[in-house]
Amino acid sequence: MGNTILDKVYRLAVEADRVLEGVVHRTPTTYSHTFSSMCGVNVYLKLENLQKTGAFKLRGAYFKIYSFIEEARRKGVVTASSGNHAQGVAYSAGKLGVKATVVMPVTTPPYKVNATKYYGANVMLYGDIYDEAYAKALEISKEVGAVFIHPFNDVHVVAGQGTIAFEILREVGDVDYVLVPVGGGGLISGIGAVIKAIKGSRTKVIGVEPEVAPKLLRSLEAGKPVDIQLKPSLADGVLTKRVGDLTFDIVKEVVDDVVLVDEDSIARAIYLLLERAKLLAEGAGVLPLAALLSGALKVRGGRVVAVISGGNADLTTLYRVILRGLAVDNRIVKLTLVLRDVPGMLNEALKVVSANRLNILDIRHDRFDVTVPQGYARVELIAESPSPDACSRTLKELRNRGFKVITNVSGLEGLKS
Ligand SMILES: Cc1ncc(COP(=O)(O)O)c(C=O)c1O
Repeated sequence: MGNTILDKVYRLAVEADRVLEGVVHRTPTTYSHTFSSMCGVNVYLKLENLQKTGAFKLRGAYFKIYSFIEEARRKGVVTASSGNHAQGVAYSAGKLGVKATVVMPVTTPPYKVNATKYYGANVMLYGDIYDEAYAKALEISKEVGAVFIHPFNDVHVVAGQGTIAFEILREVGDVDYVLVPVGGGGLISGIGAVIKAIKGSRTKVIGVEPEVAPKLLRSLEAGKPVDIQLKPSLADGVLTKRVGDLTFDIVKEVVDDVVLVDEDSIARAIYLLLERAKLLAEGAGVLPLAALLSGALKVRGGRVVAVISGGNADLTTLYRVILRGLAVDNRIVKLTLVLRDVPGMLNEALKVVSANRLNILDIRHDRFDVTVPQGYARVELIAESPSPDACSRTLKELRNRGFKVITNVSGLEGLKS
């Protein structure tokens, strides 16, 4: 390899692999029959959602702090994060006997604040957005001399994340594709540098970003890191405004392609992983699986490893994500019927619904809706469907019987009546 930064990352990753022995879980890379048959390729899942702290982030954080341990013990460390990096730093600092301060935006969900405190860090809530917390962390670093630990734009952090690639190659051997979620680019830089050092161009490294936050894709198009406007996403773990300068330089060399996935595909991947594999992952963590299931990445044959990078899902909103995913697959349907307001009419419609084994979760009969003609009523119905087919049959039969049916569920609009 002629590229010095790639050489350096690889050398450090070899060292990190040794340092992290006994510190991190060597998480499994498991073959998934279900997802393989759904996607038509051999799908393996690298389960970093089962990592200590619930995400891969402690690999980089631990190796970074370890790399200057004497100074870290004297000065302490500081970082800014509302997510998995906070817990990675807190956990690693605790293990290494280092004092850690983590600045989190005041909007950070309490479960993340509590997890970070639980690992022993001193948490400071500051600023409404990440940038304000980041500025505060740098200020603390200047004032008290604590060393700032960057979440991705640091060669030791990148090398620590790269240890994931050694584990994948040890377990799976010949890999054709490795799919990696992209935030600031630390994870994919580390994995990419190790994969390319060992496998060269035989193994493709693919970045996956949410459609609403395509920072790496835009940066590659521009030939330099560019800012994007942040919008909400289920993959909140990768909502970074910009990739790093260092990570961009590495990514340019080691990433073969970047694909985008939409929010419905992320919701669907979360619920399918839970239902089929009994695995809980967060939105950022399922981006690679979403890319495969949605067809955003078209792969013909071979062995594909999807890095499931984290499992710290917000349980207070998880049920909504699952419902959304089920709705995408027409397993939960919301129908609006407009029917004549005469006795027996609702009963007739509901007979069709129950004959197709749809289970009604909620129903509302509204005869005061001025948008429907006089003498008609609007019925809104939410039901569980045993299969997408049962749902399609129900709609067809209702329409055949003359009911006006409106559905907002994606994928059903074009259904023949
Ligand atoms: C679960 C999860 N996946 C992926 C990423 C992206 O990592 P990176 O910022 O190194 O690209 C993050 C970042 O925090 C994350 O928390």
